[in-house]
Amino acid sequence: MAANTNYEKYRSNGTLLGNVLEWVDARFPATSLWRAHLSEYHAPKNFNFWYFFGSIALVVLVIQIVTGIFLTMNYKPDGTLNADGIPRAFASVEYIMREVAGGRFIRYFHSTGASAFFIVVYLHMFRGMLYGSYRKPRELIWIFGVLIFLCLMAEAFMGYLLPWGQMSYWGAQVIINLFSAIPLVGPDLSLLIRGDYVVSDVTLNRFFALHVIAVPLVLIGLVVAHILALHEVGSNNPDGVEIKKFKDDKGVPLDSVPFHPYYTIAHDLPAMVIFLIVFCAVVFFAPEGGGYFLEYNNFLPADPMKTPEHIAPVWYFTPFYSMLRAMVWNFFWLDAKLWGVIAMGGGVVILAFLPWLDRSPAKSIRYRGPIFKTLLSIFVFGFLILGFLGMQAPGYLFFGQGWLSGDVIAQVFTVYYFLFFLTMPYWSKIDKCKPVPERVTSK
Ligand code: HEM
Repeated sequence: MAANTNYEKYRSNGTLLGNVLEWVDARFPATSLWRAHLSEYHAPKNFNFWYFFGSIALVVLVIQIVTGIFLTMNYKPDGTLNADGIPRAFASVEYIMREVAGGRFIRYFHSTGASAFFIVVYLHMFRGMLYGSYRKPRELIWIFGVLIFLCLMAEAFMGYLLPWGQMSYWGAQVIINLFSAIPLVGPDLSLLIRGDYVVSDVTLNRFFALHVIAVPLVLIGLVVAHILALHEVGSNNPDGVEIKKFKDDKGVPLDSVPFHPYYTIAHDLPAMVIFLIVFCAVVFFAPEGGGYFLEYNNFLPADPMKTPEHIAPVWYFTPFYSMLRAMVWNFFWLDAKLWGVIAMGGGVVILAFLPWLDRSPAKSIRYRGPIFKTLLSIFVFGFLILGFLGMQAPGYLFFGQGWLSGDVIAQVFTVYYFLFFLTMPYWSKIDKCKPVPERVTSK
């Protein structure tokens, strides 16, 4: 299907706009970039709901950058106390909330944006697992994705210290201390991250620098690389078949449509509008997200002399935090704390190996066998349970009963999480897949 976009007509039609475009094109590849990445980027014609989340993640990235810039105009990365005995960083956030015009919304857009980012990115990653989007030739798209995910975690962790509330302070204290469990370099590494022997004003300053400039720069670079890699090989689709196998005489894949205007206008734009409506509803009516998006303890200023009773990270970290806590055994000459750190980090890193762990002849869940469907369902259930348990204090009992210990369940699902990946080369090969069609099946 050809898009009705005659760029030559716009460029040399003698109008001011046409002349400007011609002038720019002689100096910068504006039209050719537009063509390569939008109007002549041929995407499979059968994208569905799962294909919304990449572009929604881009929208959230823009929201975070824009609101971040405005927050920075009034925020002070200063852990010292003001005349009222309140840390200046904490007081500056209160000032933004109460005194700055629109400040409350800017702050809530940014804090809700952090949670929205993770919701959208988790769904986006899950789509990759459903349709085998990480498989050859898309391994690098996936690896850039895992690096984006790591950056996003670092960005959220450092951002959370900035309001300098109780949870900011003690959460950072707990997580930075974990690095000291790494043999040989650990203690020096945590000292380097903190810049001090305890979390202090020095830590706040370096986290601020990293949060507002260093990590966002890397993040944007990775997102560009992610999309360039995608456009090099072309998008996967819900059937998991390669559309480039069947092309017309102009070399255009038969089962494709130009990304613009078909997907931009008729697919992604409505999805973005719906997303923004839901997002604004949360920002305006429930910005704290019931204590999940902004924890209640973080409305108290950081007090280095008073440890909160229960320190839990924000919801998007809790599955990995559960893995950390689940490791209570000392084995292979390493202590439990180090195993915890290995499990927490390994839980993310193992995702990068997915393209080589999965040996199934079919990419998409539509044609994969019962073993994959069953194990993936348990994987998702286990990941959600780990997330839930990571928010609870250690020793949590399901239904208040002594016989169903949350700690044991977390251990079971942590082991399951790793076994799911490590045994994948075996079970993905023997699973009974359905025959994969040559071309996409849906419109
Ligand atoms: C800031 C975060 C991210 C942004 C802005 C982003 C953006 C995008 C966009 C715009 C697309 C094309 C549209 C689509 O297929 O939905 C895409 C595709 C893809 N992304 Fe991401 N992404 C992000 C994070 C991730 C992460 C964390 C992973 C995995 C670990 C990932 C894996 C993929 C894969 C495998 C594809 C190709 C999907 C296919 O063709 O079926 N992305 N991404």
